[in-house]
Amino acid sequence: MLLHLKPEQVEIGMFVDGFDGRWIDHPFWRSRFMVETTEQLARIRGSDVTAVIVDRSRSRMGQDAGDSVLAGDRRKTADGMAPPYRGVERRRGKIFAPLPRERPVRPATYAQERRRAARVIDKSRRAVIDLFGSARMGRAVDGSKIAPLAEAIGDSITRHSRALINLVRLKQKDEYTYLHSVAVCALMINFARHLKLDETEVQALGVAGLLHDVGKVAIADDVLLKPGKLTLRERSSVEGHPLAGHALLAQSSDIPAAALEVCLRHHEKMDGSGYPGGLGDGELSLYARMGAICDVYDAVTSDRPYKAAWSPCDALTAMQSWTGHFDEQLLDRFADSLGIFPVGTLVTLSSGMLGIVKGSAGESGEAIAVRVFFSCDLLAECPPFDCEIAPTTRDVRIMGRASHKFWRFDDWPATVARVLAAGRT
Ligand SMILES: [Fe+2]
Ligand SMILES: [Fe+2]
Repeated sequence: MLLHLKPEQVEIGMFVDGFDGRWIDHPFWRSRFMVETTEQLARIRGSDVTAVIVDRSRSRMGQDAGDSVLAGDRRKTADGMAPPYRGVERRRGKIFAPLPRERPVRPATYAQERRRAARVIDKSRRAVIDLFGSARMGRAVDGSKIAPLAEAIGDSITRHSRALINLVRLKQKDEYTYLHSVAVCALMINFARHLKLDETEVQALGVAGLLHDVGKVAIADDVLLKPGKLTLRERSSVEGHPLAGHALLAQSSDIPAAALEVCLRHHEKMDGSGYPGGLGDGELSLYARMGAICDVYDAVTSDRPYKAAWSPCDALTAMQSWTGHFDEQLLDRFADSLGIFPVGTLVTLSSGMLGIVKGSAGESGEAIAVRVFFSCDLLAECPPFDCEIAPTTRDVRIMGRASHKFWRFDDWPATVARVLAAGRT
């Protein structure tokens, strides 16, 4: 028999069968477990869940425990609190079935979402550690545990598109292995939404981001974290991870096809020089090309044992220069999805001015330094000046990239050199 209790009604000895409310609001990765310690109890009672579902038949509590609920004292139960239950309990022994959850996701400010995103990241990190640990022991990946992670990350991006992505980029070196999966998940979701893909595809690509490197569980840590050059043998072990991951995921029936595709193909390159298949332009799916971009972007903007993180602008500038690696048009769309552009990009500002991207700015590289030099209203250059545009900047925003051909800057490299050299700050 299942009881729906308020968090403060839960006691040690009760078997928790689930939580009502949003996945991210409950403080445990597992949803089914026995409450055995005061620490678990404190975490449940301090959580934001609307109700805790307790399986009385599996609990080690007194026979009368939960009777007030069954006797119909609904003020003491979670029932009086939203959300309501379908098939309201009429007599002793019936099970409450929760309604399918309506999950309105409302926009939040950057500061609000940063706090919430930190929780999502922490929880996702623990879940990915768990997932990789299971995979290392040869257990099949449980897709039903991965989907809620992608969903919570997607919700954070819906509330504010930059908060989680900016926060997860600032991972510590020793957190990279696990948080890289979370970061690629977030980048894939944000990118897929920018490309206006179907929301089912968006979620599948989020799952793909979480699972794309699962084949790395077969690689020894000292090889994975080696700061120096890899030997041939070590290199071939590292390059085996897409095939190993694909084989692992193929054992599960509930992994989306997009995740299998991204896992197998995220190290392929457009000129055919990647691995494992050496596939090239025309053979690589959209998902594979998206995966390659998101994977490398997170890798180069993260601190690693062998190199310091690049700023977002520097990363995109470098990636743009690697001819033959990425789908170049798709890379432009990726930059647009983040609102971050390679150095030297012409951008339109909400103030009606044009500017040239100078680089990343701000303590954590979240802001973009722009040299403003042209008025769209006056169709004329103005004395150049610099501004820094952060996700929290309200007075002026970057609207998107502009075409230097449209604005008749015929010799664009010369214009960039002249404007960046001449501007006052
Ligand atoms: Fe990889
Ligand atoms: Fe990766």
